[in-house]
Amino acid sequence: MTKEIIRARLLSFEREPQTPDDTASFRYIEDGGLLIEGGLIRAFDAFDRIDATGARIIDHRPHLVMPGFIDTHLHFPQTQVIASWAAELLDWLNDYTFPEETRYSDPALCATMARAFLDMLSAHGTTTAVAYSSVHATSAEALFAEAHRRDMRLITGKVMMDRNAPDALCDTAQSSYDDSKALITRWHGRGRLSYAITPRFAITSTPAQMEAAQALAAEHPDCYIQTHLSENHAEIALSCQLYPDAVDYTDIYARYGMLRENSLLGHAIHLSDREIGALAEAGAKPVFCPTSNLYLGSGLFDDAKLRAAGLTNAIASDIGGGTSYSMLQTLSEGYKVLQLQRQRLHPYRAFHWITRGNAAVLGLQDRIGTLEVGTEADLVVLDARATPAMALRMERARNLMDELFTLQIMGDDRAVVQTYLAGMPQKAVAFR
Ligand code: GUN
Ligand code: ZN
Repeated sequence: MTKEIIRARLLSFEREPQTPDDTASFRYIEDGGLLIEGGLIRAFDAFDRIDATGARIIDHRPHLVMPGFIDTHLHFPQTQVIASWAAELLDWLNDYTFPEETRYSDPALCATMARAFLDMLSAHGTTTAVAYSSVHATSAEALFAEAHRRDMRLITGKVMMDRNAPDALCDTAQSSYDDSKALITRWHGRGRLSYAITPRFAITSTPAQMEAAQALAAEHPDCYIQTHLSENHAEIALSCQLYPDAVDYTDIYARYGMLRENSLLGHAIHLSDREIGALAEAGAKPVFCPTSNLYLGSGLFDDAKLRAAGLTNAIASDIGGGTSYSMLQTLSEGYKVLQLQRQRLHPYRAFHWITRGNAAVLGLQDRIGTLEVGTEADLVVLDARATPAMALRMERARNLMDELFTLQIMGDDRAVVQTYLAGMPQKAVAFR
């Protein structure tokens, strides 16, 4: 087995930083070494303390190496929907997104776009993604197969949707159960892949289909569940109209067993105190999608209120409602959304969030999201001087916090020098 040592400045969080001066929450090594063998991190220490016998040394100095970024909500069939000019969520879905997703019935297109999509993620430093596929089993199949080929940790599921969408995009309660079940059998737990049971949202699922999702969830407690919740006022009103017995939007999902610790709820913006309490009791995970929430004018995610109720929030790009694959740009917009509510996102907490924080949301903090020995060697190499504007700013940087904040506010794919999946370099992969 080949042994490699990555030499660089190293940063890894051990727990969530509590305050801006909580420097005990992370390990930062100025001249660090990561020994990688068999796709795993075997040592994380000062470079001169690592036994280099028989190892190839990859020198990334002066750049900063961190665990690869984790994106907990985005849509594979929306790579070509980004930047579609729409008034708000339901118009955007009906006018652009649903028509685009109909193209994913074609296995050849799915295979081509799976390569492009995963290339984009690597180029932006994202090493784990929780993605929605389209309604077509073939789209999830293509994405799983391409991620498997790259040894990428990926969670996806075929969308379940059987109403309020074009016929070409509707399955049935039974076919959605059967197709999801077959994909779970084939892919869940294979290599680094996991399945997410994926009813798109209440509007596009009949009660019969929600029952099918409930059955799948009960039969597969270790599969994730992902859906959308309370993103937009028109969406909330229509959802409650379609499920008149539910007391509110969250209660629709509660009634069908969709709220549990491995449930990811995209957006979760306009929630009542009762709904927040129900989510906290279930341990479900709200997902903050700042670029999308601003772009579609959906609203401001109240991170502090949800956290105060005991919830653990994820953060995500939400491509293609979201406008950037970059988790750095996602943090930048997230910072501004929270600023508007007088909530301050400190760079230590921000970088914890897109690494160990999102890993913990997925229950995967022992495998990804840190540089700890024994974890998977998914890495991003960052250059805070990647653009002339960043380099000028960095001339006045005093410390690690200033460097991280420069990356958080000004960074994007240009700041990503290299990405490693299970120890394998990726960024040089050409687009298509
Ligand atoms: N709600 C249901 N489907 C979608 C989607 O594809 N994107 C967003 N942002 N919200 C949704
Ligand atoms: Zn979404």
